[in-house]
Amino acid sequence: MDKFVINGGAKLSGSIAVLGAKNSALKILAATVLSDQKCIINNFPFIEDTNIAIEILRDLGASVDVDKERKMVIVNPATINKTVLDPVLVRKLRSSILFAGPILARFGQVQMNHPGGCVIGKRPIDLFINGFEKFGAGVDFTEDGFKLIAKSGKLKASNIFFPQITVTGTETMMMTAVLAEGKTILNNCAMEPEIPALAEYLNKCGAKIKGAGTHTIEIEGVDKIYGSYFDVIPDRIEAGTFVMMGLLTGSEIKIENCNPEHLGAVLPILEKAGAKLEIGENYIITKPSQMKAVSVVTHEYPGFATDLQSPYTLLMTQVQDQSIVHESIFEGRLFFTDQLNSMGANIIMCDPHRVVVNGPTKLYGKKLTSPDLRAGITMVLAGMIAEGTTTIENIYQIDRGYENIEARLQKLGADIKRVTS
Ligand code: EPZ
Repeated sequence: MDKFVINGGAKLSGSIAVLGAKNSALKILAATVLSDQKCIINNFPFIEDTNIAIEILRDLGASVDVDKERKMVIVNPATINKTVLDPVLVRKLRSSILFAGPILARFGQVQMNHPGGCVIGKRPIDLFINGFEKFGAGVDFTEDGFKLIAKSGKLKASNIFFPQITVTGTETMMMTAVLAEGKTILNNCAMEPEIPALAEYLNKCGAKIKGAGTHTIEIEGVDKIYGSYFDVIPDRIEAGTFVMMGLLTGSEIKIENCNPEHLGAVLPILEKAGAKLEIGENYIITKPSQMKAVSVVTHEYPGFATDLQSPYTLLMTQVQDQSIVHESIFEGRLFFTDQLNSMGANIIMCDPHRVVVNGPTKLYGKKLTSPDLRAGITMVLAGMIAEGTTTIENIYQIDRGYENIEARLQKLGADIKRVTS
């Protein structure tokens, strides 16, 4: 298994380009199933999760051409001949649930294993099952998963009011409604930037979606949609992570090819905590800053993104005074803090959703294991500011969401190596 070996203390300089968003590319790959015509996806992030999603498409019978040089993927869904998702691939990718709706909408049936949870939470799919039933699908639970069949052969439009905000739930019901007969109204929708991006792609293909990016989305069902092209939007979580990396290392670095607007409350909160940032239209420059303790509660977009909670928690270990980090969305997303404590941090867990962070604390290099991709990249940042050497095992988790990350950080001056054992 590969691991990262990091020697802390390096000052960074230069610029780092943000790549295409994992959480946008995954949705477009699922959306290609709705049509029988080609889709060209540009600015594609080649990471573990998108590789698995491509394997799922190929297993279904689609042809997928990959051009890493041009960061492009071309999907031809015309040859899809299967409606059962491969259980091995589903187990590797929690967001494989995104394929269920488009397969059901186009072919009238779908079968898959429960995509399972992960360390950040058990990740239930009740909102998905309830939504599919609202569209007129019958659900049979199998031993390890479920089978859905459109009762009258075709799905019917529905009104769905999400009892709680769900990003992939919103995206899945929006995709499913595209081919359902009649007008669907979705209420209490997530508003993450990846959702209007997905709607824009689907409308280019001939769908009729209004309101994506707000809490209410209307979809007028159509008989079929066509192929088109999609430019994956910049990864806002990469951008936010790199901003906090610049602040943590007291460096002036330029984060390029990003969309600062997609970071919502994150930048204003960092500035409230003393961050000196130059914010341009498609870049952010961090400057050495005297940071202070500011408590945060994670919240759906445009609030403070849960995917940026872990680097922020690390940042709070380095500032004077006490702060509370409240992870309101996932019940298992703070358990990485014990590994920061093993490096010298002083983080007290009040309950699975809340920690008190006391700073500043000096961190010392340690042997760590990446529990999930966002805590994993946080451990990389911790190793970059710790005294001594830090090794991080299980970096598959980091490769899930950050393409070629060690080479990109080395270019900024970080002392990080990938060791293949
Ligand atoms: C998406 O996950 C993202 N993944 C996550 O990013 C992100 O952390 C999350 O949204 C929140 O922003 C992708 O886009 C592929 P949810 P998703 O449904 O859609 C509960 C990363 O690191 N819930 O918005 O799976 C759920 O347990 C990943 O890139 C149900 O109870 O998250 C959670 O508490 C991690 N029943 C809350 O809703 C359901 O049927 C919000 O989850 C579905 C969700």
